[in-house]
Amino acid sequence: MRYRDLGRTGLRVSELGFGCASWWGKPRFEERTALGLVHEAIDLGVTLFDTGASYSAGEAEPRLGRALKGRDTSQLVIATKAGTYHAGGGRIARDMSPSAIVASAERSLVNLGLDALGLLQLHGPSAAELDALLPTLESLKARGVARAVGLNSFDPLVIEHAVGLPQVDVVMVDYNVLRPEREPLIARAAAGGKGVLAGMPLAMGHTRPLLARLKGPQDIWYAARALAKHRGELAKGRRFSFLHDLPEMTGAQAALAYVLSNPGVSAAVFGATRSGHLRENIAASGLALSADLISRIRAAQQ
Ligand SMILES: NC(=O)c1ccc[n+]([C@@H]2O[C@H](COP(=O)([O-])OP(=O)(O)OC[C@H]3O[C@@H](n4cnc5c(N)ncnc54)[C@H](OP(=O)(O)O)[C@@H]3O)[C@@H](O)[C@H]2O)c1
Repeated sequence: MRYRDLGRTGLRVSELGFGCASWWGKPRFEERTALGLVHEAIDLGVTLFDTGASYSAGEAEPRLGRALKGRDTSQLVIATKAGTYHAGGGRIARDMSPSAIVASAERSLVNLGLDALGLLQLHGPSAAELDALLPTLESLKARGVARAVGLNSFDPLVIEHAVGLPQVDVVMVDYNVLRPEREPLIARAAAGGKGVLAGMPLAMGHTRPLLARLKGPQDIWYAARALAKHRGELAKGRRFSFLHDLPEMTGAQAALAYVLSNPGVSAAVFGATRSGHLRENIAASGLALSADLISRIRAAQQ
């Protein structure tokens, strides 16, 4: 596993991080398997784990805490999010008030069994909410609740705004082969000393046809989410099916190697619920794409 600086935070992270979200955090996904994936990731050199207070209807964060129990977390960077919470019945609500962010961060410490969060990210704030929360974020850092602070947003205007704020250490953006339009923004963020986390680096698996992926209950859950929310990605993903026919690496590895070939990216945070996927993804660290493959990806992005 290779490691990279997380911007100017002074933290170093594995260039592949494990996302503890979605199906991974759901009670329907067996606890032993979910915890086993985290342990396997740690054993294979992963030091970055990303979750959120509202992930998996609030179940992901305490589950990650159970996975970390009894483990040496001193070399790990545990990232979580605040500003959204599970409001019951599968509904996710937002509260970006300073008191809610402080309470959420303190609850995360308990859920995760940590003395300090590696990274606290606001979960989808507006630019105005981010501005209003800067003193809160600074105070959480000064109190030692979080070692670094930032935000996760899929709104490029909000990220652009955040890049100009000295109080923001890290931004998490949606970046993968389907999203080359994020590249100028990532370059500006990195030039400004921000750590950049690429969320959804596998494009949620949409470079492979949906039907080819339906093997277990999680696949049906992911497919339902894709049909409800990500039809655009499903359509775009078809242009990248050639990634799955390469002799030198798998399609997932090519997708991750593409994200990691961007020097502005500190880490790609993928989700996986199968040990084979986890191992395959971790083996993507250090893989280089040929010039020919990069040209084919660029052509498909047009
Ligand atoms: N998606 C979002 O809206 C979002 C938002 C903010 C932050 N994030 C962060 O980004 C992380 C990753 O996002 P994500 O899980 O939505 O997207 P992703 O990592 O791009 O894709 C995950 C999907 O790819 C599949 N996969 C993983 N490894 C594979 C392999 N080697 N071969 C084939 N398929 C593979 C997984 O299947 P299996 O489960 O079968 O392994 C899962 O269906 C999250 O955990 C979170 O930390 C995501």
